[in-house]
Amino acid sequence: MTRNTNKVTDDSEVSLYTTVNPDILDASPDLVFIIEPDDTITYANKIAVRKLDSKVVGANLRSYITGEFEPVYDKVRNITFKNGYYGDVEMQLQPPGKNIIIGVFYLTRIAARDGESSSIIIFIRDITEQRRTEMQLLRFANAIHYAVNPLQITDAGGKIIYVNPAYERAFGFSKDELIGQDPNIVSSGKHSKRFWQNVWQSISQGTIWKGEIVNRNKKGELIYIELIISPIIDPSGRVVGYLGSHRDITEKRHLEEQLIRSQKMENIGTLAAGIAHEVGNPLTSISSLVQVIQRTTDDTFAKDKLELVKNQINRIAKIIRELVDFSRPSHYEEKWVDLNKMIKEAMNITRYGRKARHVNFKLEIQENLPPILVVPDQLIQVFINIIINALDAIESDSGVITIESRRDAKNVYCVIKDTGKGIHEDEIDKIFDPFYTTKKVGQGTGLGLWVSYGIIKNFGGNISVDSVLKRGTTVTISLPIKQRDTETS
Ligand SMILES: Nc1ncnc2c1ncn2[C@@H]1O[C@H](COP(=O)(O)OP(=O)(O)OP(=O)(O)O)[C@@H](O)[C@H]1O
Ligand SMILES: [Mg+2]
Repeated sequence: MTRNTNKVTDDSEVSLYTTVNPDILDASPDLVFIIEPDDTITYANKIAVRKLDSKVVGANLRSYITGEFEPVYDKVRNITFKNGYYGDVEMQLQPPGKNIIIGVFYLTRIAARDGESSSIIIFIRDITEQRRTEMQLLRFANAIHYAVNPLQITDAGGKIIYVNPAYERAFGFSKDELIGQDPNIVSSGKHSKRFWQNVWQSISQGTIWKGEIVNRNKKGELIYIELIISPIIDPSGRVVGYLGSHRDITEKRHLEEQLIRSQKMENIGTLAAGIAHEVGNPLTSISSLVQVIQRTTDDTFAKDKLELVKNQINRIAKIIRELVDFSRPSHYEEKWVDLNKMIKEAMNITRYGRKARHVNFKLEIQENLPPILVVPDQLIQVFINIIINALDAIESDSGVITIESRRDAKNVYCVIKDTGKGIHEDEIDKIFDPFYTTKKVGQGTGLGLWVSYGIIKNFGGNISVDSVLKRGTTVTISLPIKQRDTETS
């Protein structure tokens, strides 16, 4: 390589050496080098010497370029000699005994000291630190994105600017439906205005807010959330946004509710057993006496009235029977049965009734379920109770009842879903209470679900109800899968 090949012909070329003192380049925050066509460094500013190597002047710049960037370096150096300029290209330098420097290179051809040939002045902007922060941010962003907790970021004005996929899953809204919205899009309306004002007051002052709230997902279901809102504060101390971290505690809440319910049921159960016993015995005496008198009298008036008395006694007897059913009947025999068979029997008993005329029954059965240990008649009774409730809930002249069976590792399930009027949120806690009914006098005693609950609990299972007003109700009955050989006692 000779200097002549690079002879300067362009008059406008920067003639740095002849016009300015290169020491002025020490004022530059960038690393500055001047190189010969053979890459020998003839000048380096102070920061370049400090960051790269104290022996950099006289050395070869290319030898500092990391291996993977050598071809890039060769290319841009050649282009610069030919065209005069090449800018904004990222390469890496390896200073001896130090960390790699990531730099953005700007190369300009200039007249060499002799005025005859060309050199290149190179400004290198050190972006190592910036890249590191970017990586950290990226890692941080990934952590948030893939976190299992639903996370949401709002701007200072409280509009959603980010949600992670866990958030989309938890609330059933897509990212696009959420960005730009107020977080109250998932509000349940269960908390007062005052409540939210307090939350806002605390977070806008820069303090973290922690608490339990109730949200509502897109389907309208309530979701219990443990929420932490932390203000995002910029280096100047200004609140620029808020990070909301959610934990779905719906399941935990349901379990607590179940526990409370089962304790309540136990108390009522004891009471019921007592009543059934105390009322049942005298009732049997009354009933037999009535029959004796009916048979022995010729008085038609008395006979008629006694018939009425008998009907009333039957009504009481039915309730007593249900109370007995609830309070753990020991005289019924548990058998191994097929859940699907029980479901079909219950369906066949209910589907031809008057109420079922306009209702379409759908059966979605999973075959080959493991057998369950139950009192068959009682289990059928439970299904009948729930199907009749579903029929009662369908008020229009068309509706669908879907009965589904399935299993997982621990349980078999029967899910009975209707498209009826649904149950109001405030009522759902009460429907398992004895004598709670919304039906007209004579049409419901309010014992159906209570009795069903008692029966299923006796089998070691559970009943849960999900309902959306005006859309329908889903009742899920779970029964444990037991080992047959260890359980046949
Ligand atoms: N599928 C359902 N859809 C809407 N509401 C329901 C449904 N199932 C139960 N309910 C509500 O729960 C209440 C209690 O049900 P439950 O079966 O215990 O008693 P009932 O049906 O009123 O009377 P009974 O079953 O003793 O004849 C009902 O009155 C009704 O308000
Ligand atoms: Mg009922």
